[in-house]
Amino acid sequence: MKRYPPINPKVRKILHGADYNPDQWLDTPEVLAEDLRLMKLAHVNCASVGIFAWAKLEPEEGRFDFSWLDQIMDNLYKNGVYTILATPSGARPAWMSAKYPEVLRVQPNRQRILHGRRHNHCFTSPVYREKVRIINTKLAERYKEHPGLLIWHVSNEYNGECHCELCQEAFREWLKKKYDGDLEKLNKAWWNAFWSHTYTDWSQIQSPAPHGEELVHGLNLDWKRFVTHQTVDFFKHEIAPLKEITPEIPVTTNLMGTYPGLDYWKLAKEMDVVSWDSYPLWHGEKPNWQVGASTAFLHDLNRSLKGGKPFMLMESTPSVTNWCKVAKLKRPGMHVLASLQAVAHGSDTVQYFQWRKSRGCSEKFHGAVVDHCGHEHTRVFREVAACGKILEQLDDVVGTTVESQVAIIYDWENRWAIEDAQGPRNEKKDYQQTCEKHYQPFWQQGVPVDIINMDCDFSSYKLLVAPMMYMVRPGVAERLEQFVASGGTLVATYLSGIVDENDLCFLGGFPGPLRKVLGVWSEEIDALYDDDVNYVVLKDSPGKEYEAIELCDLIHAETAEVLATYKDDFYAGRPALTRNKFGAGNAYYIAFRSREDFLRDFYNHLIEALEIPKVLPAALPLGVTAQKRTDGQHDFIFIMNFNSDEQTVDIGDFELTDLIDGSIVKGSLKLPGYGVRILKAGSAVVELFASR
Ligand code: GLA
Ligand code: ZN
Repeated sequence: MKRYPPINPKVRKILHGADYNPDQWLDTPEVLAEDLRLMKLAHVNCASVGIFAWAKLEPEEGRFDFSWLDQIMDNLYKNGVYTILATPSGARPAWMSAKYPEVLRVQPNRQRILHGRRHNHCFTSPVYREKVRIINTKLAERYKEHPGLLIWHVSNEYNGECHCELCQEAFREWLKKKYDGDLEKLNKAWWNAFWSHTYTDWSQIQSPAPHGEELVHGLNLDWKRFVTHQTVDFFKHEIAPLKEITPEIPVTTNLMGTYPGLDYWKLAKEMDVVSWDSYPLWHGEKPNWQVGASTAFLHDLNRSLKGGKPFMLMESTPSVTNWCKVAKLKRPGMHVLASLQAVAHGSDTVQYFQWRKSRGCSEKFHGAVVDHCGHEHTRVFREVAACGKILEQLDDVVGTTVESQVAIIYDWENRWAIEDAQGPRNEKKDYQQTCEKHYQPFWQQGVPVDIINMDCDFSSYKLLVAPMMYMVRPGVAERLEQFVASGGTLVATYLSGIVDENDLCFLGGFPGPLRKVLGVWSEEIDALYDDDVNYVVLKDSPGKEYEAIELCDLIHAETAEVLATYKDDFYAGRPALTRNKFGAGNAYYIAFRSREDFLRDFYNHLIEALEIPKVLPAALPLGVTAQKRTDGQHDFIFIMNFNSDEQTVDIGDFELTDLIDGSIVKGSLKLPGYGVRILKAGSAVVELFASR
């Protein structure tokens, strides 16, 4: 079992801190001094500095001022706070847009934006790239010896796309490379004989546009791939001077969950440590346990992006977000729970947006550790400080990881293709929601799960769940066959094996290349209206029915065994759930979209049958989950209650140490509403657990 080194070996602690914008307060030094006092009280040991500070770092072209940053970093360090130093490319100074309009993005409608907002520069512009190179080099040169420099926070939430002529040209070059300079190859891959879309010259190719081309799915897909490529290329450009001048300082850039515009698997490859910004809407329209499970799914994705390596919770709000419909306060206890939830799933940090509320502009009402009142006597501050105090007890957790025998495939390119498809339903395609629904039963049982993409290695898992695997890229079906043949269990669903990597339909029968391993042929798929419902009846317990909604695949079992059939409509009696024995393993096909009840029963059965270990042996009440980090010698068990009321959990007769208060616990454990316990098990208990 692996124990990873700390993100930066300088600090062997869970990092606790926030985005810190002293550049907004330079003319009130008393506020900056107060920040240092308050950071100590909040048990903060890191601050992300300079994220949008370009205008203060380079007030005029070529005139740099680092004096304020020198002072800030020195003072932070003297007060035990390390700096996560940002490159400022997330927002550019006004002088730059005025002098070099090419740095401003062109929108899909081909209109160039005006200066304003943030996150909106052209990733291709040589001018922008050069300005970024200069400032990043200067920052690295200036702070390379600074003892407080901990991690590079590169830019901020890379997103969006630019359609300027520079980007169009770069897109065409990228295409030429991809299609070996053969335009005919591209025409075929994009099925351009359709509606006479055949290109006769590379210069005719344009990025998708609302007033131009947007219905060529191959083009849309390649454009999205190009946007990822260009963003990754920009990231590589940003980190080149950092890597050269400060090779020992890890680099990251903050991700946004399953942000649709970028394939994060490609970006993650270039980062030393993955970080992400998590803003769940607690106490809102969905029950908290569902929000908890969705958030857990995203934490697991971020951990999986680097094969299980601990990640960073770069941003989270200490109280409210102000960009949602209703900015509901986090109820007492939720802050600590949500923060420790990230740690439970593999984060080695708990960080906030932001340290101090800005006085003006659009984020003046966004949650922060320090409110406009300016002191520590607030509920939010107290909860943050309490959280910091707990994190100080968790040094042993640093670098440990989560072991999963289950993986769910969530794949960006697959998502892009599904979203582009017209039919079988154009509403509620719900790819991500479906993946999350397949995740929930594991979360409820306290079974750790990795969230991977279809290019990942499957061989370490017992159970692989591939919901709606509409696109199957070359080689994936063969790898799935190998996985099942050598004893793995695969679960696939309706709407699988429909298109290849170019979004061209497989010919000869769906699910295309998955047909052999799944042992079914899907002849048609029925889309149901929202009010329609069919039923599915299990063969071995005929009294038991489940609702089938929205999508019903009409399949023929070829080599597969039928486990359940449809009850109604012209396809009554036809297979709805099958299992195909394939080599030493099994491949299930769930032909219908179900509600939670079916998935819960189905996966609970598989967890038992495959003897997939749960973190705690006993059943957990709804809304309570258990997750585990381990170094192989010690387990760190996080038991979390997402309900507002007290719950009881049976931890069995093992003696475990509470990491927060040092007490020894066993038997039944009471968790208050939003309560969380972190229990440490030594090697003897770890072995006992494994044998259960
Ligand atoms: C994002 C940004 C932050 C801030 C927060 C507010 O995550 O990275 O700068 O705007 O949103 O929720
Ligand atoms: Zn551009």
